[in-house]
Amino acid sequence: MRVLSAIQPSGSLHLGNYFGSIKPNVELAKKATQSLYFIVDLHALTTVQDPKKLSQYRLDAAMDLLACGLDPAKTTLFYQSAVPAHAELAWILSTVSPMGLFERAVSYKEKVEKGIAASVGLFTYPVLMAADILLYQAEIVPVGRDQKQHVEMTRDIAMKFNNTFGETFTMPEPKMMDESAVVPGTDGQKMSKSYGNTISLFGTDAEIKKAIMGITTDSKDVGDPKDPETCTVYQIHKLFLSAQEAVALAERYKAGGMGYGDAKKMLLETYMDAFAPMREKRAALKQKDVAAILAHGAKEATEMATTTMDAVRAAVGLS
Ligand code: ADP
Ligand code: TRP
Repeated sequence: MRVLSAIQPSGSLHLGNYFGSIKPNVELAKKATQSLYFIVDLHALTTVQDPKKLSQYRLDAAMDLLACGLDPAKTTLFYQSAVPAHAELAWILSTVSPMGLFERAVSYKEKVEKGIAASVGLFTYPVLMAADILLYQAEIVPVGRDQKQHVEMTRDIAMKFNNTFGETFTMPEPKMMDESAVVPGTDGQKMSKSYGNTISLFGTDAEIKKAIMGITTDSKDVGDPKDPETCTVYQIHKLFLSAQEAVALAERYKAGGMGYGDAKKMLLETYMDAFAPMREKRAALKQKDVAAILAHGAKEATEMATTTMDAVRAAVGLS
């Protein structure tokens, strides 16, 4: 089983990234015969166009992933831009990708509605993602719900390529983790860097406290019974709990007598306990060790990519 996933370095990592992408990946990597996880800095250029920020974000992402338990001995970790074949394959795939497929992409429309510039790169973002996946002949792609459509588009593009030029690519399967169903942000919408509603993994204690204490709730009084299903504090808290613990906590909400302030304090404590070891690990990481891990990952990735690109070039008549 070859597992692959990636993350955009477009801001500091948050809980949604952790439960939706990092945690399932770290766990799957333990079972996989081969696993790759990379930092898609070329994708990030569609939204981050400040060179200082981009170079900081990508280094932060690498350090965050290592701190979260990604084991570079098991998982190939690298920057997407360190393997130029991603861009080359994206171009070749774009020539067999039907326009209509992209016009139906939800993520593009959502980003433009949010005010992100409608560049050609933003529109063709999914073809670069297809290249990311197909370049390594990935079988399993663990992603959050919002990325499922992109993996399905990748399958469509792979099928089109295989039909046109002969069997070249493995069909990837998106893998949705139950717990990776959308993690809500502090305002109750999907948690996302671009909505400014995140709880960061490695922010300062004060930032994390501010985010958690600022979660939007309804205006029920302390004594009132509360509905855990519609309460963002509970929905975030339960991510840290076993099924049994989650039921017990839900009962406390329903019983009344617990105010949102106390509920948030409990969440803050759980949050800090859960992430303390990772936060310590993150603080102890050395930049030069991280650079060496990334360089090694890029070398391994380049070898795999070269095998695929030789086949692709031969298939289309470019060899
Ligand atoms: P953002 O929306 O903050 O820009 P990304 O798009 O970079 O996050 O997402 C990186 C990974 O984390 C993807 O696999 C995505 O599905 C997952 N992810 C991001 N936000 C959430 C969320 N709120 N709930 C679940 N998974 C998420
Ligand atoms: N588009 C994904 C996101 O925004 C990031 C991504 C790029 C990705 N290439 C990928 C995810 C390949 C999985 C596999 O989260």
